[in-house]
Amino acid sequence: MKFFVDTANIKEIEKLISTGFVDGVTTNPSLIAKQGDDMAETIRAICSIVSGPVSAEVTATEFSKMLEEGEYLASLAKNVAVKVPLTVDGLKTCKALREKGTMVNVTLCFSVAQALLAAKAGATFISPFVGRLDDIGEKGMDLIDDIVVMYENYTFDTEVLVASIRSKQHLIDAAVIGAHVATLPPKVIYELYEHPLTDKGLKAFLDDWAKTGQSILPK
Ligand code: E4P
Repeated sequence: MKFFVDTANIKEIEKLISTGFVDGVTTNPSLIAKQGDDMAETIRAICSIVSGPVSAEVTATEFSKMLEEGEYLASLAKNVAVKVPLTVDGLKTCKALREKGTMVNVTLCFSVAQALLAAKAGATFISPFVGRLDDIGEKGMDLIDDIVVMYENYTFDTEVLVASIRSKQHLIDAAVIGAHVATLPPKVIYELYEHPLTDKGLKAFLDDWAKTGQSILPK
């Protein structure tokens, strides 16, 4: 399973790169707005430190303008994946960009039918939003399960990118289902390391070690 980081914060991304767990990055207009920096500069900067796909989202809603924005975003760096919403115009844009060889992430997916359309439009990634489905009382993870099964029924190359992840449990469930990619807020990545028995065990080992008065490296 690939891990993408769901943030436009360069410092957070840099910190996580040093852990070796960054296979890509996703941004959206809200994350760019939260950061408050120029979008093109932010995407260029992220792409200069991350070699995997970096999603940058269009904000136009009409096909020709979306395509123009998508082409511009794709020109910022070789590893940009243009993000388009799951609308008629968004999928037309997806098809047009894919024909030019640009990676496309189709976002705001909330149903199996939408995921099928995105795959037929040649999407590189489909982004179903689990957290936002949970928010309205549905089981977001059931959608991931259904899309993974549906894609396996055919020969689609589209990767299932689990988005709107809010917890460690979301990630675990997505991995057990076999989703290709998870995009994770930095906080959730750090939570993956945590277990109380790790902390307790480490403390006991270090306390016992201290009693020996030894050091591993020769003095
Ligand atoms: C990433 O591609 C999505 O835009 C993001 O995961 C949405 O997350 P949210 O529902 O927590 O805003």
